[in-house]
Amino acid sequence: MYPIERVEALNAEVTRMTVRAPEIARKIRPGQFVMLRIDERGERIPLTMNDCDPEAGTVTIVFQAVGATTMRLARMRAGDALLDFAGPLGNPTELAGARRACVIGGGLGTAIAYPQAKWLHEHGCEVDVITGFRTKDLIILEDEINACSARQVIMTDDGSNGNKGVVTAPLQQRIDEGADYDLVLAVGPVIMMKFVAATTKPFGIKTLVSMNPLMIDGTGMCGGCRVKVGDEYLHACVDGPDFDGHLVDFDDAMRRGVMYRSFEGAAREAAAGRVASEGRDCGGSAAAGAVGAGADERKGA
Ligand code: NAD
Ligand code: FES
Repeated sequence: MYPIERVEALNAEVTRMTVRAPEIARKIRPGQFVMLRIDERGERIPLTMNDCDPEAGTVTIVFQAVGATTMRLARMRAGDALLDFAGPLGNPTELAGARRACVIGGGLGTAIAYPQAKWLHEHGCEVDVITGFRTKDLIILEDEINACSARQVIMTDDGSNGNKGVVTAPLQQRIDEGADYDLVLAVGPVIMMKFVAATTKPFGIKTLVSMNPLMIDGTGMCGGCRVKVGDEYLHACVDGPDFDGHLVDFDDAMRRGVMYRSFEGAAREAAAGRVASEGRDCGGSAAAGAVGAGADERKGA
């Protein structure tokens, strides 16, 4: 069993959870993920590392309570334990050698972008971080990112933080000002990563994107996580999750995402029913409020 040491809400939708897993904490690197299972009746879900502390033996994950399992996970508390916490899986992001980087996080993707920015900062790279959220109440990890970046720009779709627009606007502005990035790294909605890659392509800036297709086994066996990269289909779980953003077929990824939506919707409704009845049994139903939030349960932060 893997004891949960800390649980905290980062905003109304997003939870940060620290799990005791010393073996994984020693090995895991930015970009890699774990497969967790709450108990015998639970499904396995992939969640990307948000932070780790090898000395304390802990791994931190961040998730949004929108799918069957994350809704149950959001109801767990410090002192509870997870049945499985397997990893590290996937490949670490190739960050070595970057001198001037721009790390971009969209919504929940910011939680995965954070360890990349932290690693780059700790290894002597000058890091700009651009993040985007629907509204200011959803902004996460502002202080943590400030501590590991030369500049942080936070955009909101509705302008509620005084910076209206999407993440590609400040990226384009920084490039036009001569920022001279040798690496751009984007983690967030597929549509965001598509436009980040389109922004950097004319300038030939190396651009990595973190793909989050549906994952079932996380071992390259089921084929669920295929991503079209150039002329070939690669598996996000064993070949990725990071790929060259100038080669990824984002439109294909979005088409494949839509294919699974009805299946995921059914799973969410089933989970909502279960959470609602569990809520009646124990006097709470906090996670049921997340039903219909609209996001998928994919490889999340
Ligand atoms: P969101 O839909 O609120 O988008 C976050 C930000 O992305 C926006 O504020 C905007 O700045 C930017 N964005 C969106 N569309 C854009 C466009 N067309 N051009 C430029 N920028 C654009 O995000 P959310 O509701 O927090 O949902 C999180 C999303 O991140 C989900 O789609 C989830 O699947 C994805 N995600 C991806 C990963 C990954 O590994 N890639 C990990 C976790 C979450
Ligand atoms: Fe099954 Fe990648 S999750 S092949």
